[in-house]
Amino acid sequence: MPLIKWRDSYSVGVAKFDLEHKVLVELINNIYSIIRNGDDQVIPEYEVAELISYTQAHFKGEEEAMEACGYEFSEEHKKIHAELEVEVLKFKEQLENFSDRVVSDLYLFLRNWLLNHILEEDMKYRECLNTCEDTRKRNKKISGYRHKTIHQYPFS
Ligand code: FEO
Repeated sequence: MPLIKWRDSYSVGVAKFDLEHKVLVELINNIYSIIRNGDDQVIPEYEVAELISYTQAHFKGEEEAMEACGYEFSEEHKKIHAELEVEVLKFKEQLENFSDRVVSDLYLFLRNWLLNHILEEDMKYRECLNTCEDTRKRNKKISGYRHKTIHQYPFS
């Protein structure tokens, strides 16, 4: 059973970022499945590194879009991104010292880390970015990538 099921209500109204959020959910669900289904020796190091790398690129893209659109809370949002990056890096360290506690904490950690951020912080830029010419350009750029897998989806 997947950890997180994507819902339309999670949409921030920006196609590029919705797609990236879906990929992040996919990456998190994959990590959860590996840990839940594996034995105690299985540490999804590659998948966690991929999650971190994808998250960093996603945050960078959002920050550029917020700047380009003159979003008034972009600095505050950037600080929150930096804090989330620290949290996920700490989680990575915990995984390296794999324990039952990590597994049991995983649901809450990942849910809070990603979904609360999307629903509470990313939603705040919805109106600003949706009325911005820069967003239209970014959305046009991804239109050809909608059905590609995460490994084929480029950041640019
Ligand atoms: Fe979608 Fe602010 O991260």
